[in-house]
Amino acid sequence: MTKIAIIVGTTRPGRVGHRVAEWVHGIAGKRPEAEYEIVDLADQGLPLLDEAVPPAAGQYAGDHTKRWADVVRAFDGYVVVTPEYNHGIPAALKNAFDFVHAEWNDKAVGFVGYGAVGAARAVEQLKQVAVELSIAPVSAQVTLLIPGDFPAYPDFAPQEFREAEVERVLDQVEAWSKALATVRS
Ligand SMILES: Cc1cc2nc3c(=O)[nH]c(=O)nc-3n(C[C@H](O)[C@H](O)[C@H](O)COP(=O)(O)O)c2cc1C
Repeated sequence: MTKIAIIVGTTRPGRVGHRVAEWVHGIAGKRPEAEYEIVDLADQGLPLLDEAVPPAAGQYAGDHTKRWADVVRAFDGYVVVTPEYNHGIPAALKNAFDFVHAEWNDKAVGFVGYGAVGAARAVEQLKQVAVELSIAPVSAQVTLLIPGDFPAYPDFAPQEFREAEVERVLDQVEAWSKALATVRS
């Protein structure tokens, strides 16, 4: 069975990222073609990158790095739930991408963003990062708006059509995750 991680891209106390990820997981859980699991960066215990050797060499020293590599390796694709921080990628999320390398390669990724412009700017940057890690970013994306989908921020009440947008992202991530599994084998 194709396994897809729903990655919570923020770690701060009081974040809304986890609530958005649970909503995505609720939609994804009804789909028969893949298994979805939430991966919360707040649970991973990653410091700022502290590996002496660049991760592309695959010589991981830290136990936290090896644990994170195991998590990333276990999935065929990823759905990243992210806001933008100061028009950019949240530092914890960029750090998590930077920490390991080969475990990301030849997989697919889709994005569910939230913010004043649906995190569109951060997602564009994340797509560049993904390509450098040989992760194929799908074209469909969800751009949840503050306040449109958070009428009384931080309360989250997505507009009805958002569910169909999530399904489109999941359609593409599932299709490319399955296709890229053949590249890895
Ligand atoms: C450090 C920081 C920077 C932010 N910068 C932006 C921004 O550039 N654009 C935006 O739309 N929202 C910005 N926001 C507001 C976030 O969209 C909003 O707080 C969102 O809930 C953050 O995600 P989180 O709750 O999962 O941390 C920022 C929030 C923080 C904490």
